[in-house]
Amino acid sequence: MGERMTGDTTRSDIEPTVEVNLDVHVAHSARMYDFYLGGTTNFAPDREAAAHALAVFPWARSAARANRAFMHRSTRALAEAGIRQFLDIGTGIPTSPNLHEIAQRIAPQSRVVYADNDPIVLTHAQHLLHSAPEGRTAYVHADVREPESVLSAARELLDFSRPIALSLNAILHFVPDTAATGAHRLVEAFKAELPPGSALVVSHATQDFAPEDIARVEQVYANAGTPVQARTREEFARLFSGWELLDPGVAATPRWRPDETSAAEPVADAEAACYGAVALRR
Ligand SMILES: C[S@@+](CC[C@H](N)C(=O)[O-])C[C@H]1O[C@@H](n2cnc3c(N)ncnc32)[C@H](O)[C@@H]1O
Repeated sequence: MGERMTGDTTRSDIEPTVEVNLDVHVAHSARMYDFYLGGTTNFAPDREAAAHALAVFPWARSAARANRAFMHRSTRALAEAGIRQFLDIGTGIPTSPNLHEIAQRIAPQSRVVYADNDPIVLTHAQHLLHSAPEGRTAYVHADVREPESVLSAARELLDFSRPIALSLNAILHFVPDTAATGAHRLVEAFKAELPPGSALVVSHATQDFAPEDIARVEQVYANAGTPVQARTREEFARLFSGWELLDPGVAATPRWRPDETSAAEPVADAEAACYGAVALRR
């Protein structure tokens, strides 16, 4: 854990140095998500578990796309607002455009640190490292439940005296509320280290729009060995406590500042089944 790879425009310094055990015999959330998005980085157990999820929640693909589109729009909004440093935890299998591509289109000098704990993401991380020459990207193989490990690796590339956008998209529902690693406690540990002007971006599964469907999805993931905990609007909003929510506040992911691409493929709240929000530390 905490292994770091950095990249600019070369590939020479990005070889993985951690032992990789892909464990292709059990389903993994990153590979199931890749399957929903139409990617090819998934194996039979992932596709089988994803098929079970699609059987109880046929909108899983549009939910994944809506979540991804929320990441695009929120990153763009923050880059346009002047943020130049990003820490993206629970990055997922690279799917272009990745976060640094969005940010660097607006500000090529942007620096982006990615982190995920799934070895499959590590093996594909070179795609995250092709930074614009003016900027930098890095990938850290680390667990969000160990904030110090993520933060100490991130400090090597990011300046923690200047604003940083922390994104936790579609990851915290994989962190159930237990005494040791509750999602709220974790988020507070990260927020405490971010200076004024920083942003917190979160998307998260919710049962609010389709409680029975989402209870079935939770069961499918539990059966596949990956517990999921959807959270209510109030539980979600509490992640941002003390920070100032940007307009439109807490919204179903497709309703967070929709643009022309959202209009082309409308997704209902019950199909997205996720909240998204962005807040600033003043
Ligand atoms: C559904 S994908 C979301 C990918 C991307 N953030 C997005 O929104 O498009 C969830 C990602 O969180 C990662 N993840 C789950 N639990 C994690 C943990 N404890 N630490 C780090 N990453 C984790 C998974 O490996 C997966 O890549």
